Amino acid sequence: MLEILYSQADVHQHLAPLRAQGSSIGFVPTMGALHIGHQSLVEASKHENAVTVVSIFVNPRQFGPNEDLSRYPRTPQTDYDLLHELEVPYLFLPSESEMYPADFAIDYQVGDKGKHWCGKSRPGHFQGVAEAVARLFTLIQPDKAYFGQKDFQQTVIVQDLIHTLSLPVKCVVCPTIREPDGLAFSSRNRYLNAKDRTAAAFIYHSLLWAKELAERETPVESIVQIITQAFENYPAFRLDYFGIANRNNLTPLTGNVTPETPAIALIAAYLGNTRLIDNLPLNA
Ligand code: PAF
Repeated sequence: MLEILYSQADVHQHLAPLRAQGSSIGFVPTMGALHIGHQSLVEASKHENAVTVVSIFVNPRQFGPNEDLSRYPRTPQTDYDLLHELEVPYLFLPSESEMYPADFAIDYQVGDKGKHWCGKSRPGHFQGVAEAVARLFTLIQPDKAYFGQKDFQQTVIVQDLIHTLSLPVKCVVCPTIREPDGLAFSSRNRYLNAKDRTAAAFIYHSLLWAKELAERETPVESIVQIITQAFENYPAFRLDYFGIANRNNLTPLTGNVTPETPAIALIAAYLGNTRLIDNLPLNA
């Protein structure tokens, strides 16, 4: 039976006794429009914890003024059915006023790791993510929280948040789940028309290509140039960014990627109005 919790009081009523009896709480924060990627996070949480809580909250603070907040996919019934089928015991469905009461303030500023890549293209995005995640962690008080590797920069920001605020929660990063042609599962994939959906596979293929080039000792500057040029030759796409970063601090890398370099290729590209992101560690 899937119990829906709407408020801090509901959360306290249901989770405090479980916590008191020593049950570990796994938490999967989401914005809904659930897909197989989310399912894998739920399964990991269920495997490692006595109790799993999933939240669905489309967080306005992480959308810029010209972004897709109003058209962000909302599929409440299919989300509910999936969580029910997965035998998740609790769904937290806060309202905006429950998430951000008038007196809610968070004394936390996302640092330099939020300035590159998606942070550059979407100013304020990671501050909004950090505020939502901090609030959710405070309400749910999970032992472990599960995030997908697809949102790599987000996982780094969340790990920093946990570290800086000394929150007693472990961030578990789960592998990206892909369609058979390599496209990473994302709630935004459902925006794509058939032609763009076919083209979308090139995002992952470009990452594999970058990995192959790095393995052949191609300098990062040349890899970036080759991949950027390939997107310029592919009219369906508008490349937002492609780059290779140090995966510990997200700063752009230059020169050769050695087996010791903690390198990750990161990409964001538009197909029509749909912005898709992906990434691939280059030597992991
Ligand atoms: O990854 C998401 O769905 C969101 O960024 C999150 C972590 C739920 C915060 O709103």
